[in-house]
Amino acid sequence: MREGKGDPAIAVIVAALCVASAVLLVDGAQGEELATQLLNGFAATHAAGASALFEPVLCTPNGVFAFGFLRVGSASLDLAVVHLPSSFPLWRATPARLGDWSRPATLTFDSSLMLTDPDHGVLWQTLNTNGDTVVLLNSSNLVVRRYAKPMPAWQSFDNPSDTLVLDQNFTVSSPPLISKNRRFALRLGKTFMALHMEFYGGRATLPTTPMYWQHTALKAQPENATQPPVYGRLDDRGFFGLYLEGSGQRVDVLSFDTFAQNITGVFQRLTLDDDGNLRAYYWTDGSKAWTSDYKAISEQCELPITCGAYGLCIPGEPQCQCLTNSKSTSPPCHAEETTDLCSANGGWQQLDFDVVRRKRVSVAYKEELPFETNKTAAECELACAANCSCWGALYNGASGYCYLIDFPVETLVYEADDRKVGYFKARKRPSPARPGMSPGVTAATAVLSLVLASLAAAGVYIGDRVWERKRRRRAGMEQELAPGPYKDLKSMGSSNKSFRA
Ligand SMILES: *[C@@H]1O[C@H](CO)[C@@H](O)[C@H](O)[C@H]1NC(C)=O
Ligand SMILES: *[C@@H]1O[C@H](CO)[C@@H](O)[C@H](O)[C@H]1NC(C)=O
Ligand SMILES: *[C@@H]1O[C@H](CO)[C@@H](O)[C@H](O)[C@H]1NC(C)=O
Ligand SMILES: *[C@@H]1O[C@H](CO)[C@@H](O)[C@H](O)[C@H]1NC(C)=O
Ligand SMILES: *[C@@H]1O[C@H](CO)[C@@H](O)[C@H](O)[C@H]1NC(C)=O
Ligand SMILES: *[C@@H]1O[C@H](CO)[C@@H](O)[C@H](O)[C@H]1NC(C)=O
Repeated sequence: MREGKGDPAIAVIVAALCVASAVLLVDGAQGEELATQLLNGFAATHAAGASALFEPVLCTPNGVFAFGFLRVGSASLDLAVVHLPSSFPLWRATPARLGDWSRPATLTFDSSLMLTDPDHGVLWQTLNTNGDTVVLLNSSNLVVRRYAKPMPAWQSFDNPSDTLVLDQNFTVSSPPLISKNRRFALRLGKTFMALHMEFYGGRATLPTTPMYWQHTALKAQPENATQPPVYGRLDDRGFFGLYLEGSGQRVDVLSFDTFAQNITGVFQRLTLDDDGNLRAYYWTDGSKAWTSDYKAISEQCELPITCGAYGLCIPGEPQCQCLTNSKSTSPPCHAEETTDLCSANGGWQQLDFDVVRRKRVSVAYKEELPFETNKTAAECELACAANCSCWGALYNGASGYCYLIDFPVETLVYEADDRKVGYFKARKRPSPARPGMSPGVTAATAVLSLVLASLAAAGVYIGDRVWERKRRRRAGMEQELAPGPYKDLKSMGSSNKSFRA
């Protein structure tokens, strides 16, 4: 997985520049490009097609982080705060339109920070800020300050991208954490945090953001209206804490593998990765890679897009199959869908679709799906068939539960129970499907996840996850008449077979 590593070239060059610049400033001479503070009137230009992957303009006093122009992918440009030892971007501006690395771009500071390019004008800026200086703090927080005021006029900590770091508050009013591929989001509710799939790149063409993981603060009282909302913060003792706003009372912890171990001098981050998992990592001085310390979802098959759209994940093996064609074992099985089957001229008119039926299927996050009870298989199908915003229905013949998939079909999970049947719609297409996730990417993700899984298995796991599962079972959604074996098929992490992509 690329987000685990960075480009070592960035680290060596920039760290040297930052140190040199710090020395220059101490000596009273101004570094031409690198500083530890930007003043009004500052301007820096990205040289079109620069060979470096990162062009820093501002460094932290401790020389560990830098802010500057970052090359994204092969040819795009963004602003980023980079952890220099690992070259990992902890924060990115992520404007709606990225810059073009092969064209010039300018970063200016004049009350607000602004990124412009000659073709499109303003790409990004800190809105409604009236600042005098910009500093990058030792914590990696990029702060725009007004001299007289203690509160920052703007700070990157209030505008996270896919990562949270130490001392960064994640509150109900913070924007969600969005994975780099923009397919997943972490949001905070009043008493819980939740992972969502984002079907429209964050743009709400349709407000479809189905939840696939949820964690409620153990000691928060959801029914107490006067209780303030929770906020979350990484703690260097090895956990992500949930606290009540105002009092700061801790109401829950997500404990990491290193929880209560006395490891000091590490730098931690919590990142929403491109596979939809929320993971904590730490970096120790002199290390060559981030060490994974926590993951919200432990099983590969429980992640929502492991086998792509219309893929079937087989736990234990582990491997992928296709729902639409049981002979095919190589995702992508089907193009990723972005819109529903409702016809454009409104009403309940439905676009053409093929029906796929499959026995022995379920999803890991069915507790989060809308459901109906006391149904027959035929009634369950019908509830979905007639509704153009429904893409599939999962029926449990043992319990009569009918779960409706009101978003495009993603990865399903195999369950060895003939009474668990699925009904799925597949859009009729004139031309061959456009691939969603390339097999190479899937394979790489799967292999890395296995590596991470074994790393995590090596550590002691004192997760609140266990409490959470118990609580969720008690909560009743899983209290079907005949609980299937699916929660027990947990051998994937220890499997040493490679994931077949
Ligand atoms: C930031 O780090 C540098 C170098 O470690 C240290 O000298 C400085 O005091 C730190 N600044 C703050 C505000 O902690
Ligand atoms: C985070 O929240 C705490 C408690 O509310 C506050 O003291 C601290 O200043 C906040 N940190 C930042 C970076 O905003
Ligand atoms: C509701 O929450 C507030 C603030 O946390 C607390 O003071 C109060 O006792 C709670 N009420 C109940 C009925 O638990
Ligand atoms: C933990 O670290 C502190 C200081 O780094 C040290 O004083 C203490 O003895 C350590 N405790 C254990 C249990 O290792
Ligand atoms: C389930 O459906 C049957 C027939 O439709 C009905 O007789 C029965 O009362 C229903 N049970 C519940 C719990 O709704
Ligand atoms: C269709 O399904 C959606 C999502 O499950 C639901 O909100 C809506 O009420 C359904 N429409 C009809 C006509 O049943």
